[in-house]
Amino acid sequence: MTYRNYSLKQLQQIDASHHLHPFTDHKDLRAAGSRMISRGEGPYVYDTEGGALLDAMAGLWCVNIGYGRKELAEAAYEQMKELPYYNSFFRCTTPPSTLLAQKIAEIAPPNLNQVFFGSSGSESNDTALRLVRHYWALEGKPAKNRIISRQMAYHGSTVAGASLGGMEHMHEQLGGAVPNIVHVMMPYAFELALPGESDHDFGLRAAKAVEDAILDAGPENVAAFIAEPIQGAGGVKIPPASYWPEVQRIVKKYDVLLMLDEVITGYGRTGAWFAAQSLGIEADTITTAKALTSGYQPLSALLVSDRIAGTLTEKGGEFFHGYTYSGHPVACAVALKNLEIIESEGLIDRVRDETGPYLAEQLQKRIAGHDLVGEVRTFGLLGAIEIVKDRASRERYLPSGSAAVVVRDHAIANGLMMRATGDTMILSPPLVWTRETIDLACDRIARALDLAAADLRGK
Ligand SMILES: Cc1ncc(COP(=O)(O)O)c(C=O)c1O
Repeated sequence: MTYRNYSLKQLQQIDASHHLHPFTDHKDLRAAGSRMISRGEGPYVYDTEGGALLDAMAGLWCVNIGYGRKELAEAAYEQMKELPYYNSFFRCTTPPSTLLAQKIAEIAPPNLNQVFFGSSGSESNDTALRLVRHYWALEGKPAKNRIISRQMAYHGSTVAGASLGGMEHMHEQLGGAVPNIVHVMMPYAFELALPGESDHDFGLRAAKAVEDAILDAGPENVAAFIAEPIQGAGGVKIPPASYWPEVQRIVKKYDVLLMLDEVITGYGRTGAWFAAQSLGIEADTITTAKALTSGYQPLSALLVSDRIAGTLTEKGGEFFHGYTYSGHPVACAVALKNLEIIESEGLIDRVRDETGPYLAEQLQKRIAGHDLVGEVRTFGLLGAIEIVKDRASRERYLPSGSAAVVVRDHAIANGLMMRATGDTMILSPPLVWTRETIDLACDRIARALDLAAADLRGK
């Protein structure tokens, strides 16, 4: 590769001159310089100087089968030679996209048998939003178009994705969100449960916020409730066990559709193909992306229920929506190989039976009691560590989010790529992690916490 002729400094200078990064303060970036990642192998990524980082984020929640899998490169190469591109418009399709749609229907919950492809989670949520509104219009109920979402939800960064999401700082920069989307409280007991309120009761109260929003608008005006089964970018917020059954009861009662966003949880992370299966949720749409190809190609798939697909096919009329790269054959060929590997290597059973429980046990045993830690929680291979100033009162360091950044920086300096979201450290490792990798990660987390505590307590 030609980049080997450049020094790190040169690459950083070029990057600073020409590259605007996503979700970045560009003034800070210019001052600090970018981190240049140039290679990946198994659970590790390497920078241009050869420094290794154990990647506890699977890239950006996506590299489920780990880095450097030649089988996926070969699948892309073979497909590019055969047919590098063709569209899915005008009644056309390609063999890989057709077969991938079938494969996804096979592993999905039984009521979801149709797939609409895009290239990103944001695009797929745009599709989902338009599809559910179109569905109700076809059903003769065009007024039923309000969408209920949750505070701190992350549904992507296109205008539709950011409008569906509940990140206020994103809304502020939108200059006008997609209309008729409201946001209700999230099921985040660590911060929002009342003193003495049980997890169970808190879960019911958070679900009731959905019901209140439906009644507030009138059920005849509400199209759908959209939610991540476990809020990811908002801080790996795992709802109490009472939450989802109650939400399911409520949406069924008022005939409101349920749009699940499984862009993070899809394809094995929770110990099932989909969190809908882990948590027993019946959805009308499931948004997926990321781990569908383990991030090796940009591809998303919106899973669509028989109910919605049935109306589309029965009533007819064009759905005026689609993307040049919907069903891209190379991305779909890579996805097919990726799903085959997840299956043949038993990665999902391993998360459910071995690595998921082991991660939970080790974080409890080795991290939960640390002076800076208010709570650890996990679900499958998703984890969160709440950083607090005072364990008993759960008081945080100020300004908000500042302490977690100190922990993150020490983690990275000690060879562990972790992310900080607000005051929460998050983990979403590749599914190929073993017990030994988890042990190593816990060593590095513990060290990062000790170093951060010294910095923060010293202040
Ligand atoms: C739950 C969820 N939905 C949607 C998205 C957006 O996906 P993309 O960045 O591929 O547009 C993300 C990205 O992190 C996500 O976590």
